[in-house]
Order: sequence, then C-alpha cells, then structure tokens
Amino acid sequence: MIILGIETSCDETSVAFLQAKQKQDKVEFEVLSNTISSQVEFHAKFGGVVPSLAARKHSENIDKVFQLAFKQAGIKKKPDLIAVTKGPGLAPALLVGVNFAKALAYFLNKPLVGVNHLEGHILSNWLKPIGKNSQFSIPNSQSFPAVVLLISGGHTELVLMKGFGKYCLLGQTLDDAAGECFDKVARLLGLGYPGGPAIDKLAKLGNPRAFNFPSPLIHSKNYNFSFSGLKTAMLYFLKDNRFDFSNRKINRKTKKIQQDITASFQEAVTKVLIKKTLKAAEEFKAKQIFVCGGVAANTYLKASFLEKSEKVPVKFPEKDYITDNAAMIAAAGFFHPQPAKNPLELEVEANLRLG
Ligand code: KG4
Ligand code: ZN
Repeated sequence: MIILGIETSCDETSVAFLQAKQKQDKVEFEVLSNTISSQVEFHAKFGGVVPSLAARKHSENIDKVFQLAFKQAGIKKKPDLIAVTKGPGLAPALLVGVNFAKALAYFLNKPLVGVNHLEGHILSNWLKPIGKNSQFSIPNSQSFPAVVLLISGGHTELVLMKGFGKYCLLGQTLDDAAGECFDKVARLLGLGYPGGPAIDKLAKLGNPRAFNFPSPLIHSKNYNFSFSGLKTAMLYFLKDNRFDFSNRKINRKTKKIQQDITASFQEAVTKVLIKKTLKAAEEFKAKQIFVCGGVAANTYLKASFLEKSEKVPVKFPEKDYITDNAAMIAAAGFFHPQPAKNPLELEVEANLRLG
C-alpha cells in the first residue's frame, strides 16, 4: 500500500509518500519521497516560532510541497491511506495540515488517520533513506520491550515500548523540554534560533568539564526530568560572571569561554538523559534503546550514548528523519488501528495512545 503522510505541527511543512508491504508478520517500508519546506530562517528573526505566522506559511506552501513530493515519488496511482499529524503541536499550524488532509481524503475517497506526532518520532527509527528498504517483523522480538527516549522541542519523555502501538509512559519533563532548554540557553548565549544545532556546533570546540552546571533530578528515583532550573542556573552564571555574548564581535578569549559553556551545558543535559534511560533499560530488561526527536541530532549526546550503553544496543534515526518530517507520520499511520469513519470529523488532539 502507498501511504501519504502530512506534517505541519510546528515550523516544517512536510509531505511524504511511503510504500508499505506486508506479508504475514514481515513488513517492508520504502520512503518514496519526503519533501520538507522549513520555516526556520523565517522565524529566526523573531527568536522562535510564531504560531499564527507558521500557520500562514504552511497555508502558502502546502500545495507546492505536496506537488513536489508527489512528483518525486514517481507514482501513478492514488495513495491507499492518508496519515496526518493531529497533535501535539501548535493548533493553528496543525489545522492547516489536517484540513488539507481532510479535503484530499474526501475528494480521493481514501481513508484518513490522525497520527500522534510523538508516535511519528518513535517510528522514525524504522525508516531508511530514500531508495533503500527497511525490513522488519511486526513482533520485532529482538527489539521489544524497548525503552524510547523522546527528546523534541516540546517534549521529553521516557516510554516503554512493548510493541508497535503499545506504549507506556515511564516519565516526562515536569517543566521545559530538553530541546526548549537548548533553544533558551542558546538565546542567552547570543546564538539565535534554533539553538540546538548552534550549541552542538560550538560545543565541538569546547571542554565539557570546564564548568559544572546542574543536571536536575539526576538522583531522583523516578523517570521524570526537569530542565528549567538548568536554564535559570545558566542565566545567573552568565550574570554573576558578567559574561555578555550579545555583541557580534567577540574576541578569541570570549569565544573560547562560549565554547566551553556550550560543551559543559551539553554535558549537564546528556548526563541526566543517559542515566535515566539506562536505568529504565535495566529495570524493564529492554532489548533495545531508541532515541528520537530533534535533540537526537546532537552529536555529543549520540557519541556519549553509544559509549555508555554497554549492555543494551542504542539506535538513533537516520539523519533525514530526526527532525520533523512527514515520512515518520506515514509510518505511524501504517500502525494506526482504524481510520476515521468520516474523514471530515477528524479533530486536532494531543495524547499519545497508551496501552
Ligand atoms: O522534533 P523536533 O524537530 O520538533 C518538535 O517536535 O519539537 O525538535 C526540535 C528541537 C529544537 O528544540 C532544536 O533546537 C532541537 O530539536 N535540535 C537539537 C539539534 N538539532 C535540533 N538539539 C540539540 N542538538 C542538535 N543538533
Ligand atoms: Zn517533532
């Protein structure tokens, strides 16, 4: 079957076509196209995503992105299923994708499923680059139970995955998400938006042990996280030391300090994420750890995870599917229990299906 995926939850307008073949319990996914139009540069001048403007940009772009994805997929037939992100995300932005999907489903007379964005991130781990197949079995007994660390701009969650569509929330952030913390700290350091990639790049030249920033809740007995304290600690650290990186022309010595701060900040975030994930993997006898969501793109986090997880294999998604994309939404659509009876009744909502 061909699945059309549509994603507009934040600042990427994305449309993808995924071919999914199933023979008994064997599944084969092939991404035929995964077109993404990013609004990152547009929102950078505001220091973050402006929801109403994001929705306007999605409306302007979605038909062009759809046409490009359709052309690139090289298919002659209609999709068999349409999967669209129904939440969580920015409500005005989500509505653009959902309404576009509803209209397509209605006129093509094809079933429509509303997919949870976070489930999409989880499924990104089963996708291969365009032109390559990923093959797996539905029981996937070599992977499950698995522990999933989901770290995006809006969410930080530890999930026990017992199978496709079977998720149990072990813990989550009590305040800011890890990605949000990267973005806010980057702003304090004069690095602009989005903060994650900028910190990642600068930190490669810094010393992760130069400064000691807090890793909140690292010793707590549960699987929850908290990152707002780290952001506040950074604010006072910069104030107390009179570090000001807002000036564009910073000298070599100041640059070195900035590099050391970003590297030490990453160490503080990475330490707590890895410690809790490995603890969960041990407690639940996980056969695999999956890391996903935009922060999974962080090179220091990935290297540290691969080094520290000696007992359980750790998997990160392929580069093209780490940040928001529609291929992962199409993949999650494949596992959706059933389409809406009337596609026009699909509503925007936010909860991950647990069970
Ligand atoms: O999953 P995602 O693309 O969108 C949401 O669902 O939120 O995640 C976006 C987040 C942003 O906070 C961004 O700063 C962060 O992912 N991010 C990174 C990196 N690339 C993106 N954080 C750390 N290091 C990176 N290389
Ligand atoms: Zn996302």
